[in-house]
Amino acid sequence: MIAASVTDYRELARKRLPRLLFDYIDGGSYAEATLRRNVEDFEDLALRQRVLRDVSKISLETELFGQAFSMPVMLAPVGMAGMYARRGEVQAARAAKAAGVPMCLSTVSVCDLDEVASGCGIPPWFQLYMIRDRGYMAELLARAKALGCPVLVFTVDLPVPGARYRDMRTGLFGGAPSLTGGLKRAIDGVTHPGWLLDVQLGGKPHTFGNLAAAIPEARGMAEFWPWVTRNFDPTLTWADLDWIRSHWDGPIVIKGVLDPDDARQAVKAGADGIVVSNHGGRQLDGVLSGVRALPPIADAVGDDLAILMDGGVRSGLDVVKALALGARACLIGRPWAWALGARGEAGVAHVLQILRQEMMMAMALTGCTDVRQAGRELLVR
Ligand SMILES: Cc1cc2nc3c(=O)[nH]c(=O)nc-3n(C[C@H](O)[C@H](O)[C@H](O)COP(=O)(O)O)c2cc1C
Repeated sequence: MIAASVTDYRELARKRLPRLLFDYIDGGSYAEATLRRNVEDFEDLALRQRVLRDVSKISLETELFGQAFSMPVMLAPVGMAGMYARRGEVQAARAAKAAGVPMCLSTVSVCDLDEVASGCGIPPWFQLYMIRDRGYMAELLARAKALGCPVLVFTVDLPVPGARYRDMRTGLFGGAPSLTGGLKRAIDGVTHPGWLLDVQLGGKPHTFGNLAAAIPEARGMAEFWPWVTRNFDPTLTWADLDWIRSHWDGPIVIKGVLDPDDARQAVKAGADGIVVSNHGGRQLDGVLSGVRALPPIADAVGDDLAILMDGGVRSGLDVVKALALGARACLIGRPWAWALGARGEAGVAHVLQILRQEMMMAMALTGCTDVRQAGRELLVR
């Protein structure tokens, strides 16, 4: 299949990746209602078509935390991307750099900060999950700072992991597999030879990147996920932002805000930005979609900090809708993960190009020539 749209990459990833990995990327928590809503609520919004407005010049350029970007889209932190393609985080970071957009590296990546920064030539934004060992956290933040990571994205919507039934069924989170489980996984691998050769055999080492030194005993995913669950810190409160601030002097963005009261709290706590996000429908099922949560948050704090959003962005049209509702930029998660799994760096580059072209078209037909001026008048009320 020749991929024309972002979601075409979903089908290509389904074919190339072992089922266990495809389901990890694709799935959500519980009945996946929020995952579906993220996409459907975008579809329900109607753009307002306007005509005869000289749309010969359109600017998608934007600025975030003092950095200039070619369009208001960025790669969301996605864990374990080095299992989707050989040294996957480096490939994705290169595609983002070439497209002139930021890439945010997950705490739970396969390639660590150093490898991504040196492999792509610029340090990524860094996403932080707080684990209980504060000494380790302090060292990690110092490493990110020394490398020059420009922005810290602190993810706060995972004090406990959501139950992801697909991963339970494939055995991803179940600890060391039984004999039959192991056999099933082996068959899953050998029946996807493109992935097997590229990633499983050719893409080593498969370590736990930024957390490798914290988990010396972990030999595979089976040991890693139970460790993550035990070591993520559920005691966190807004007060812990002071601790982070004492180890990080750059911009801090809080990811996982869905409620205007929490957004106000983020302002009070001195955050520079927030990501309106439900973790791609992977945490509390039944909560609002990102795009429905966005307008009241923009009304509450839009003048006080930078609002980013994610969840369900599948086209450049969706990005324009999110900008219209008050976001400064959108993060994409699954779109780049599918593309990376399907075609590596070239796939991620293509997804970003598709989004750019679709945004240009949506801007032209809504009569808006500068993304920085997108407002609610672009939508039918
Ligand atoms: C496979 C996968 C892994 C993810 N890993 C992380 C992570 O390590 N840290 C994080 O803050 N968010 C993580 N997320 C959530 C994304 O950053 C983002 O919020 C979400 O994917 C956006 O929704 P979308 O996939 O519909 O674009 C992950 C999402 C996916 C799909």
